[in-house]
Amino acid sequence: MAQTHFGYETVDEQEKAARVRGVFDRVAAKYDLMNDVLSMGLHRAWKAYTVGVADVRPGMRVLDIAGGTGDLARAFARKAGPQGTVVHTDINFEMLRTGRDRMLDDGLALPTMVCDAEQLPFPEGHFDVVSVAFGLRNMTHKERALAEMQRVLRPGGRLLVLEFSKPAEPLRKPYDWYSFNFMPWAGKLVAGDADSYRYLAESIRMHPDQATLKAMMQGAGFGHVDVHNLAAGIVALHVGIKC
Ligand SMILES: C[S@@+](CC[C@H](N)C(=O)[O-])C[C@H]1O[C@@H](n2cnc3c(N)ncnc32)[C@H](O)[C@@H]1O
Repeated sequence: MAQTHFGYETVDEQEKAARVRGVFDRVAAKYDLMNDVLSMGLHRAWKAYTVGVADVRPGMRVLDIAGGTGDLARAFARKAGPQGTVVHTDINFEMLRTGRDRMLDDGLALPTMVCDAEQLPFPEGHFDVVSVAFGLRNMTHKERALAEMQRVLRPGGRLLVLEFSKPAEPLRKPYDWYSFNFMPWAGKLVAGDADSYRYLAESIRMHPDQATLKAMMQGAGFGHVDVHNLAAGIVALHVGIKC
């Protein structure tokens, strides 16, 4: 059986999705709070930047993959307006439900669907914009997921991949200390779960760096890919155009 990574562990490919599901089942209830704590609120700026670059206009069709608690989907819905469609999807029911409930509390109802990014249940060329924020890292077959994202975009449509990446040199040591000490400690303190936040740190280190992800997106059929480093490369936004 083929093997893959779950953080620093090597596991059977079939085991990875279940392990990732376990992590997000455990963190769903405290996910938004932990995002603010661990990024010191910066994830809001990274997402706002992504929404700006996405340039969603009224009437557009948008797909948010691995949408979790729905930060991007909600922001895109405001831009797409009542004539547009924003589909909020995730493989994890608990994450999706937490997001859907939060949106309903804010008076927003979006089409919400449990689906695996590696097998998207949408026709070819259907969306103007596809996004995936902090989700690609968790997928077993990233090339397959990127090919699916390319398939469901219309020609000229854009994919936005917001993900942790490789920071510039002076930050690497302090960032390692922060990731492997503070993150699991804060996870234990706030959410009663150090292991999930250790997985978070490890999965970030195992994720392809900026240049590798750019090459993967080009390999998946994106004719033009731009990379925007945020917070000195701790996070990167990759923007691929289907052309
Ligand atoms: C760190 S959360 C990101 C949530 C949200 N996009 C955000 O930025 O706050 C990662 C999400 O990826 C989802 N995920 C993992 N593997 C997936 C897959 N194969 N297909 C779709 N979603 C997946 C998880 O269930 C989880 O909700």
